[in-house]
Amino acid sequence: MLNTRGNKLTWLGHATFKITTPGGKVILIDPWVNGNPACPKAAKKLERVDTILITHGHGDHIGDAVKIAKKFKTQVISIYETSLWLASKGVKNATGMGKGGTIQSGEIEVTMVNALHSNGIEDGKKIVYGGEPCGYIVRLPSGLKIYHAGDTSVFGDMKLIGELYEPEVAMLPIGDYYTMGPREAAMAIRLLNVKHVVPIHYGTFPALTGTPDALKKLTQDISGLEIHALKPGESIG
Ligand code: NI
Ligand code: MN
Repeated sequence: MLNTRGNKLTWLGHATFKITTPGGKVILIDPWVNGNPACPKAAKKLERVDTILITHGHGDHIGDAVKIAKKFKTQVISIYETSLWLASKGVKNATGMGKGGTIQSGEIEVTMVNALHSNGIEDGKKIVYGGEPCGYIVRLPSGLKIYHAGDTSVFGDMKLIGELYEPEVAMLPIGDYYTMGPREAAMAIRLLNVKHVVPIHYGTFPALTGTPDALKKLTQDISGLEIHALKPGESIG
C-alpha cells in the first residue's frame, strides 16, 4: 500500500494525471483530457486547476493546456521553449524552466528532470521547436514525492534521479513504440529503486502494446515492488 498522506492521484488515461492535494488544490500533468480516448467522460469535467505540468509538446501531452489555463488562470510549467509557445497562444502564466531546476508552485515543489524523447510542437502546418522533453519530480504538501517520467526511453541517469530525489511512486510509460516498453520500464524500476509504479502511456492506441502484466512478469523478483495497474479514472489515495 502506498500512503499518499491525504493526496489523491487519479489517472485520466494515457499520460494524464490529476493530483488533488489535502487542501483541495488540483495539479494536472500532461493535460490531454477532451481528445483523450482513454479518459472517462465523468473525469473530463474539471472544477479547478491550479498548476499544469507539461513534459513535452506532443498533442497527446500538451493537449488541452491552453484551454484549461485560460479558463482557470492556471500556472503552466514546462521547459523554456515550450513556455514561449504557450505564451504565444495566450497563456498568461506560462513558466519556463530548465532541467535540474526546482521551483515552487503554490503548495507544491517541482523539479524538472531529463527524458529521452523528442519535442516538436505541431502548430497548424508548422512544427515549432519546443525545447527538450522532460520528466518531473513533484513534492506534494505532505511530503509525498512522485516522479512522472513523461515520454522516455530508459536511461542510466534514472539511477541518479532515484538517489537524489527518492521518489516514492513513479509514473512510467510502458506502451512501447513511442516510449519504453515493459523491458525498458523494468530496468527503469531497478535504476530508480522505486517501490510503487503506475504504468502509463499504454492501451490508448493499438500501437501501444505494452501491458502491466508483462511488466509484472519482468519485475517479480523485486521485493516490495507494487505495480498499480489503474483503470482510467481510478485513483490512489
Ligand atoms: Ni511524445
Ligand atoms: Mn506520447
